[in-house]
Amino acid sequence: MNTPLNIVVLISGRGSNLQSIIDQVQGGALPARIRAVISNCADAYGLVRAQAAGVPTEVLDHRQFPSRHAFDQALMALIDQYSPQLVVLAGFMRILGEDFVDHYAGRLMNIHPSLLPAFPGLHTHERAIESGVAQHGASVHFVTPDLDGGPIIIQAAVPVLPGDTPERLADRVLKEEHRIFPLAIRWFAEGRLQVRAGRVLLDDQVRAEQGLIATPEPASTD
Ligand code: GRF
Repeated sequence: MNTPLNIVVLISGRGSNLQSIIDQVQGGALPARIRAVISNCADAYGLVRAQAAGVPTEVLDHRQFPSRHAFDQALMALIDQYSPQLVVLAGFMRILGEDFVDHYAGRLMNIHPSLLPAFPGLHTHERAIESGVAQHGASVHFVTPDLDGGPIIIQAAVPVLPGDTPERLADRVLKEEHRIFPLAIRWFAEGRLQVRAGRVLLDDQVRAEQGLIATPEPASTD
């Protein structure tokens, strides 16, 4: 196998997506090395998960900085100490400025709990139920200065069921998040992703089903 991809993961909370990445790295399905997990919240449970996996952790509290710009600069300096080839936003609840995004252009990935471009921003599950859509889901995308607007790498859809609460729908979406985020990182690690004209190509092709992957893939890791 090729040299593992060095990644840094940014979190703000629970860290279940981080856990899915840790599990796949530990199980050998994801050729990556998590160099560090960085949180802007000292009490993020994801930090406990990282420590349990023997991954170095850092806390950088945005409230200690006079401006968004100052926080972004400090965060970049901290991240770069670990020389990541990819920076992964796994439930990182801060908006990052243009300087930050430009610095990591093409190597900054985020997961968002909706079928983008539908429902950018917060409270996506509630908004999906209120708007009456039949399907909701999650998207992994490269980050650009356009909030939740960067090129989409993979999406997964789930049905919105009668009587759904935001919590129930979120649980259904989260299961898919845990499947597609490590997969997108694996594709990146394998050098299979390219962005051309604002679209992501996998193995030089636009995946026909890229927009909606409704059914779980077989367990095989080919
Ligand atoms: C996930 O729903 C993710 O899509 C969003 O924030 C949530 C983070 O959950 N960006 P967790 O911390 O990974 O459990």
